[in-house]
Amino acid sequence: MILDGKAVSEKRLELLKEKIEESGLYPRLATVIVGEDPASKLYVRMKHRTCERVGIGSIGIELPEDASTERVLEAVTRLNNDPDINGILVQLPLPSQVDTTRVINAVAPGKDVDGFHPYNLGRLLAGDPVFAPCTPQGIMTILEEYRIPIQGQRAVVVGRSIDVGRPMAALLLNADATVTICHSKTKKIEDEMRGADILVSAVGRLKFVRPEMVKEGATVIDVGINYDEQGKLCGDVDFEAVRERAGAITPVPGGVGPMTIATLMENTFKAARLSAC
Ligand code: GUN
Repeated sequence: MILDGKAVSEKRLELLKEKIEESGLYPRLATVIVGEDPASKLYVRMKHRTCERVGIGSIGIELPEDASTERVLEAVTRLNNDPDINGILVQLPLPSQVDTTRVINAVAPGKDVDGFHPYNLGRLLAGDPVFAPCTPQGIMTILEEYRIPIQGQRAVVVGRSIDVGRPMAALLLNADATVTICHSKTKKIEDEMRGADILVSAVGRLKFVRPEMVKEGATVIDVGINYDEQGKLCGDVDFEAVRERAGAITPVPGGVGPMTIATLMENTFKAARLSAC
């Protein structure tokens, strides 16, 4: 079975649009982008377009490539203090002179629709999340939509980043999976991966997941964004080979990616609802 993230995201966005209309609220998202990275600019444009589609207002703050940490913090503080803004998204990665941790920590937790602030990561780890990071939360939505059982299942997450691996593991644990996190120093990583009923790869390496690492019938979630020799967008999973063994698998593109933006929209509406009460 192919897990069609694009279709799930379309369904969720339509539903969200109705909910926003019914609420009478006008949620607003602010994005902050530093520099001219074309991929980042494209992602931010897609986020603004999706906002418009579902009835969320959005503003974009663009800072120059050489902006200092202080300059970025100033922009974040202004947005924190702006009662018309419900959600703040600082597009990552930031240029190397900017202290990313200070910037993430400066976002007001109630407006942290990316879920990267330590307060929100702490709430997630405590099993009482408010805003969970959009990519792993979007993956949970795919699993839910396709009724893939999680409780009691063995889940293996490959990658331990703040935005994907760690929160993914916390979300799966909160849903009562038995969770293992693997990373570059894991011994016999293939053995760990082969034990997974749900395998999530967030490594960033082309054809990292081969069929011999996948249990027959497993659910395989591919978070990778890589480009092959022809410049074609590919995930971490050797898709054609692994799909024969997997019970369910997300493609790249059209799998996890669209769910990240849909979840950002859901988080922004949630921020608006929470600030209204
Ligand atoms: N860069 C790549 N993905 C993301 C994301 O989910 N949020 C932010 N802020 N930056 C990103």
